[in-house]
Amino acid sequence: MPIYHSLGKIPAKRHTVFRKDDGTLYAEELVSTEGFSSLYSLVYHCHPPTIVKDLGEPYNVEPKIAREKHLRHTSLLGFKIKPEADYLKSRKPVLVNSDLHISLAAPQTSMSDYYYKNSQADEVIFIHEGSGTLKTGFGQIPFEYGDYLVIPRGTIYQIHFNTSENRLFIVESFSPIRTPKRYRNAFGQMEEHAPFCERDIKRPTQLETFDEVGDFKVLIKKQGMMYPYTYGTHPFDFVGWDGFHYPWAFSIHNFEPITGRLHQPPPVHQTFEGHNFVICSFVPRMYDYHPLAIPAPYNHSNVDSDEVLYYVDGDFMSRKSVEKGQITLHPGGIPHGPHPGTVEKSIGQAKTEELAVMIDPFRPLMLTQDAVDIEDESYHKSWQTSS
Ligand SMILES: [Fe+2]
Repeated sequence: MPIYHSLGKIPAKRHTVFRKDDGTLYAEELVSTEGFSSLYSLVYHCHPPTIVKDLGEPYNVEPKIAREKHLRHTSLLGFKIKPEADYLKSRKPVLVNSDLHISLAAPQTSMSDYYYKNSQADEVIFIHEGSGTLKTGFGQIPFEYGDYLVIPRGTIYQIHFNTSENRLFIVESFSPIRTPKRYRNAFGQMEEHAPFCERDIKRPTQLETFDEVGDFKVLIKKQGMMYPYTYGTHPFDFVGWDGFHYPWAFSIHNFEPITGRLHQPPPVHQTFEGHNFVICSFVPRMYDYHPLAIPAPYNHSNVDSDEVLYYVDGDFMSRKSVEKGQITLHPGGIPHGPHPGTVEKSIGQAKTEELAVMIDPFRPLMLTQDAVDIEDESYHKSWQTSS
């Protein structure tokens, strides 16, 4: 995230002597996602972050593809994903390609006896239900309904939930997650026409230094495998850090919608981008105000991308009978559009209360077995006027 941030104690100059009270040196680490040519932070550990005590047996967590090729409008009933106690086990990839994995999760308990690091992907965790705290070495981020947690790859974290009722919509991105480039000026600052700005970004707070040695289990995901590591030092032993690379959050409720006299195209909803895909937020807003405007979207064939919508709350103007947690996948190559009756119904309406997350990936998505298990098999026929 291109806002400089710093917490804790750091030396006046980088790469210089920085000692603890006992005279030993803090261990400096540079963290980034694209080598030395993009965003980075300098972290100061109480102990070197390299003390491996044990390596467990790695295991495969690659999503199992059930439907690789398809050309059918598809709907998944996301809340049918079964709750599971463990956070990592609760995460079920449903739609995947080589740029991103989309997962659903209903974890019931906080992570307590292990830490997790995704070394292959940045994560965007949308909090549909539940609240809690994201804990990292950079500090803590309290989260609640509507928050997107953005966690750069390589960040060791623990999630603590306030209750057992949690529903998450997760994107793992194999490229760095950014805010849309067209909303940033040459210096990285969000411009005036952007639907959100730096004030809306939740940065880590409350850096707590765990200067502890012992056995610390960190599950590290890389190349579709999970590697159980035991480190000899606490992963949250940062005494301080500064830079532009750190976990952050943004609430969908702080997305200020861009509206117009006539129907605005999907890019006005864009919130994040990765390589070959975008993430958009559809939020409550005033409808188009031309006297003859049709607020419902026109039919469209998104030839160059698939289109995923995750329904969060409110009535969705162009859809009949959608429910919370439902996903629709409209594959590129065939047209889709408003359901019968919804165009007429939208005319003259002043506003919508819809809340949804949209992902447009430019490479086709494959369905996993977990997706097929929660599929509404009749969805592709839902545009029939008799349905
Ligand atoms: Fe669409």
